[in-house]
Amino acid sequence: MKPKIWLSSPHMGGAEQKYVQEAFDTNWVAPLGPNVNGFEQDLQLYLNEKRYVGALASGTSALHLSLILLGVNTGDEVICQSKTFSASANPIIYQGATPIFVDSECDTWNICPDLLETAIKDRIAKGKKPKAIIAVHLYGMPYKVNEIHNISKSYNIPIIEDSAESLGSTYQGQKCGTFGDISILSFNGNKIITTSGGGAIVTRTQSDKDKAVFLATQARDNAPHYEHSHIGFNYRMSNIVAGIGRGQMQVLDKHVKKRRSNYEFYKQSLNDINEISFLDEPIGSYSNRWLTCILLENKSQREDVRLTLEKENIESRPLWKPMHLQPVFADFPSYVNGVSKGLFDKGLCLPSGSNLSKTDLIRVTTTIKKYFKVC
Ligand SMILES: Cc1ncc(COP(=O)(O)O)c(C=O)c1O
Repeated sequence: MKPKIWLSSPHMGGAEQKYVQEAFDTNWVAPLGPNVNGFEQDLQLYLNEKRYVGALASGTSALHLSLILLGVNTGDEVICQSKTFSASANPIIYQGATPIFVDSECDTWNICPDLLETAIKDRIAKGKKPKAIIAVHLYGMPYKVNEIHNISKSYNIPIIEDSAESLGSTYQGQKCGTFGDISILSFNGNKIITTSGGGAIVTRTQSDKDKAVFLATQARDNAPHYEHSHIGFNYRMSNIVAGIGRGQMQVLDKHVKKRRSNYEFYKQSLNDINEISFLDEPIGSYSNRWLTCILLENKSQREDVRLTLEKENIESRPLWKPMHLQPVFADFPSYVNGVSKGLFDKGLCLPSGSNLSKTDLIRVTTTIKKYFKVC
């Protein structure tokens, strides 16, 4: 059996262990400490806007706290991009709120501005103004920031920017993760940088960050004993995990460069196959190309290619199945145009890690070319 080629596996840069060792040496084996502060500062510096970063246990916990900070409660409605990973939508349910799913447009595969406005108008006409909008830069491709944020402003509905997959991407020169009223990042094992598991909330004010950190550390009031006037969570990132993050920040730009070069390699190598197409960057967008995705002609061809790769011990994955088609969310309202369903049927994510060798990439493209009988 040939060695496994993974879709997107962790890629350590070398400096991570130094920070983790420091945490052991100084006994900062705790959910706070110098690595947590350092990682937050590194991220703030990287994002290069006046934003405040709180390091948390996961991107999902960051989304959950974002909803709480925006006052989302039982019975509220929250609009969510349908084409996403389930973690974007699950926290809406944690809050007892109702997700309202909105389909995608074809230029970025992200939330469609026209359909978003239709959904908002319709929800208002039905008697409830949505409390928030969750927009996602899927696979690293920025959503239509100007259009989506103009709609958010004109209806006065805040945006939670799910930037879990898009650290390192930019829109008109500004870093993804800085556009939302609140934004979130993920450092899960498959992300562009990883802390094994982890995430962050990015806020526009120090007081919002303080509130998030307060809730993330069991909502302990200021008292010598344990005093609580709010329900809290155990959502803070540990100082050990943050040490990995500090090391990973040193290679983030390198990872973006490599993932973008994976995309270019696939695009050039598979250029002659008419059945395959790629998602180009719209003008003004710069994607970290977290995952390179291809579109095939139809669902059965997509599945054939996936199984052909699997036989060669190469992992690939269909594009994310939209939330409005997931059994667990099927009964919630949705505003659809068929785009995300079409992408799910025809789309395949190819191995995209920053640790892939040229030989790995050639193995992937040769397998696909053989399937299409072009080599
Ligand atoms: C779009 C999206 N949102 C949210 C998450 C949740 O992040 P985490 O796994 O860190 O909880 C992920 C990834 O897992 C994701 O891909």
